[in-house]
Amino acid sequence: MNIGIIGLGYVGLITGVGFASLGNKVIGVDIDNNKINKINTGETPIYEQGLEEKLKEVNDNFRATTNINDLKDSEIIFVCVGTPSKEDGSIDLKYVRRAAEDISKILGSYRVIVIKSTVIPGTTESLIKILEKNDKKVGEDFGLAMNPEFLKEGSSLKDFFEPDRIVIGSYDEKSKEILAELYKDFNCPKLFANIKTAEMIKYASNSFLGTKISFINEIGNICKKLGIDVYAIAEGIGYDKRIGREFLNAGIGFGGSCFPKDIKALIAKSNEIGHEPKLLQEIIKINEKQPLKKIEFLKKHIPNLKGKEIGILGLAFKPETDDVRESRAIPIVKELLKEEVIIKAYDPKAIGNFKKLFPQIKYCSPEEILNSEAILILTNWKEFENLDYRKNIVIDGRGILKAKEAKIYEGICW
Ligand code: UDX
Repeated sequence: MNIGIIGLGYVGLITGVGFASLGNKVIGVDIDNNKINKINTGETPIYEQGLEEKLKEVNDNFRATTNINDLKDSEIIFVCVGTPSKEDGSIDLKYVRRAAEDISKILGSYRVIVIKSTVIPGTTESLIKILEKNDKKVGEDFGLAMNPEFLKEGSSLKDFFEPDRIVIGSYDEKSKEILAELYKDFNCPKLFANIKTAEMIKYASNSFLGTKISFINEIGNICKKLGIDVYAIAEGIGYDKRIGREFLNAGIGFGGSCFPKDIKALIAKSNEIGHEPKLLQEIIKINEKQPLKKIEFLKKHIPNLKGKEIGILGLAFKPETDDVRESRAIPIVKELLKEEVIIKAYDPKAIGNFKKLFPQIKYCSPEEILNSEAILILTNWKEFENLDYRKNIVIDGRGILKAKEAKIYEGICW
């Protein structure tokens, strides 16, 4: 099939490369010229496992451009632009609306417009009046659908090819049929629904995962005071099939471009329609307090932090990515700077991105970090299991086993 993708961020690029590698002809559009040039020379603008190799492999089937007119022959157009938060936490739809404006100008023969960006229920259908601007009618001249993504950074290519499920919300029968055909070789449950339901499934999914994390952090904070290791609790409850062991790793909370933003957007929407979402609000509150526990435990061992050299291991919001968006390292570094600490930091992939936010701290090798008086572990990169912590005070936020050999070891919830 001829597929167009608008927005070549994580989601758009993975989706485009994924469909191209399945034999479709894909054209990706983005406004960022640098990004387009990189992609067309086989370089990925982001670090993602296996992506560079895949991009080179699909050379004939995938092309990037800044010209939306190149999507004139696309039978399916996926909208994968960002949906950031506004100041008040509500969703900012300006990129999605701009994409709809652009698409309205190139509509010709029937094609399906598919929103893949995470959007609050009601958004996709609200785009109809923009898409219909040039006398084209939804359901007749073009189709409309919503197909949320569930890609995890770091394993997103694998998630693309082996999803747990595929959700397709469609306005018209023809859109549903075309998307069913596109996904026919994917071996997983496929859910067909209306558009609003598909939009909400994505929010409910991310909110539930966030709930699991804040829940286990709450239990972990209680465990810490009782001298219990919360990881043993996670194991004990995780065997219950109704609960499941995944996403019960206690620590300093969740970050990334999705969970905090999506849960806040659902809170804002809920308030707007007259329901106070108390549980969702607490999930965010717990998540915002959790990283600050690091400082509390650090002060237990070094009461006056001013002028002390503190090492940080891990800046990415999770391992296997260079992404620092909403990383829990951000509030921790801010707090340490307030205390006038000398910060030395290391991350295998994310130093470049973190430096843009905090150019004033020192970035160095893990060996140099081990010379600091105390070390804070903020991301569970595998290589942190190979360091020798025996001379250090370690405040561990992610459950690194080797760190338990430290001179003084303090787990955040254990
Ligand atoms: C998430 C969803 O998993 C994905 O389905 C959706 O499409 C986008 O958002 P991602 O942001 O890549 O994916 O990260 P994920 O692996 O889900 O982790 C999010 C955060 O939760 C990370 O900061 C991670 O460290 C934290 N986390 C995860 C925990 O603190 N404990 C856990 O047990 C699991």
